[in-house]
Amino acid sequence: MNNQDILNRRQFLKQTAATGAALTGAALLPSTAFATAVPRVNREKVRVGLIGCGSVSGAYLPNLTSQPFIEVVSVCDIIPERARKRADRFKVPNVYPNIDAMLAGAPFDLLVNTTSMPSHYPVNKKALEARRNVWSEKPMALEVSQGRELIELARKNGVGFWAAPTCVTSPQFKFMAETMAGGKLGKITAAHGVYGHGGPGWSAWFYEKGGGSLYDLGVYNVTTLTGLLGPAQEVVGMTAVLNPTRKVEDKGEVKVEADENTMLIMNHGHGVLSHVQTGFVYFDGEHLPSTDKRKLYTIDIVATKGTMHLQGWDWEAFGVDVAYQGEAELETHCKESWDYSWVGGASYVAKCLLEGKQGLITPEHGLHVLEVMNACHESQATGRRIAVESTFKWPIFG
Ligand SMILES: NC(=O)c1ccc[n+]([C@@H]2O[C@H](COP(=O)([O-])OP(=O)(O)OC[C@H]3O[C@@H](n4cnc5c(N)ncnc54)[C@H](O)[C@@H]3O)[C@@H](O)[C@H]2O)c1
Repeated sequence: MNNQDILNRRQFLKQTAATGAALTGAALLPSTAFATAVPRVNREKVRVGLIGCGSVSGAYLPNLTSQPFIEVVSVCDIIPERARKRADRFKVPNVYPNIDAMLAGAPFDLLVNTTSMPSHYPVNKKALEARRNVWSEKPMALEVSQGRELIELARKNGVGFWAAPTCVTSPQFKFMAETMAGGKLGKITAAHGVYGHGGPGWSAWFYEKGGGSLYDLGVYNVTTLTGLLGPAQEVVGMTAVLNPTRKVEDKGEVKVEADENTMLIMNHGHGVLSHVQTGFVYFDGEHLPSTDKRKLYTIDIVATKGTMHLQGWDWEAFGVDVAYQGEAELETHCKESWDYSWVGGASYVAKCLLEGKQGLITPEHGLHVLEVMNACHESQATGRRIAVESTFKWPIFG
């Protein structure tokens, strides 16, 4: 890339950022408002400790152990045989039965937290207190006050803190954000996100307090839509439970206490509205053959001069279909996958640590998504529309 290219790209980003704000009307905040410290790890390889050796760790560990810039030094689970099994399979030298033993054991730079959602806050807090960088599965905590506390703790201790999902780093997100900012679609007016399946069958916590389809699945669409349209200013939500009980592998029959069917509407300001529907009571689209998965749109963006639709899921997309007014055909763009992976977030932030940079995933965005989800539950409980206070650095460009 020559100097002229760099200049053109800078000019483009500056211009598109301003256009993005004009499109949706969301306020652009100076980057100094989000001064999260990201220290540089001065080593050849980032040393990783992974805690929570359940289902998703089976997808994280092949990704982490295949990166030449990462060394997985330890694994941990309160069910020790799960940690031992992962250690044997992925040749990890140290195994621990709890976070305290892990923090006191073999040194590591980045904690990868793939525990159950109710364990995220206490585990993240202990690791940040011990001055470890943290990549947390979503959400970062169950309550927005806990999320704020974690971000403050990370700032105070000068460590990096990130939470899944990683969809803002995908080529399709970048394509959609840049297309919206490019202006040809006109003013963005409305958007829709959908993600659901029949519900996990392995762990009870998905259905207990602190679980639910919104935190587990809707979180992806809330991240994508706020990432594309800007921070939400207010939220209206409704949730429902359809099954009084569920059968799960770890506890047998359990009472369903968390949302299984959820609708969430966001007002992004200046007339821009979006909505997310999510549930554990949907057909299993994830298991369709990949040719059919492509036919599923999960994110729809509607504008005054065109329309844009994401093929596949926002965490694993196959392309973006766009049609402009007067050009009646939907054309597929951005079929590439780069080295993006839905379980690649921890590897992405390990690279950020080697370079001493924040990257596109920010804790403020994660906190905003958590506040929107909290607001949805509050709206269901009170029958009211709920104001959202938090914001984040936007627009997000790759
Ligand atoms: N399973 C998936 O396909 C998937 C996909 C994307 C994201 N996620 C997210 O990943 C996280 C984990 O999901 P999962 O399906 O792997 O759950 P899981 O129930 O299969 O595994 C969680 C593991 O964490 C352990 N654990 C819980 N609290 C702990 C603590 N305090 N210290 C140490 N270990 C602890 C449990 O013993 C269990 O082995 C969740 O946030 C989930 O939303 C899961």
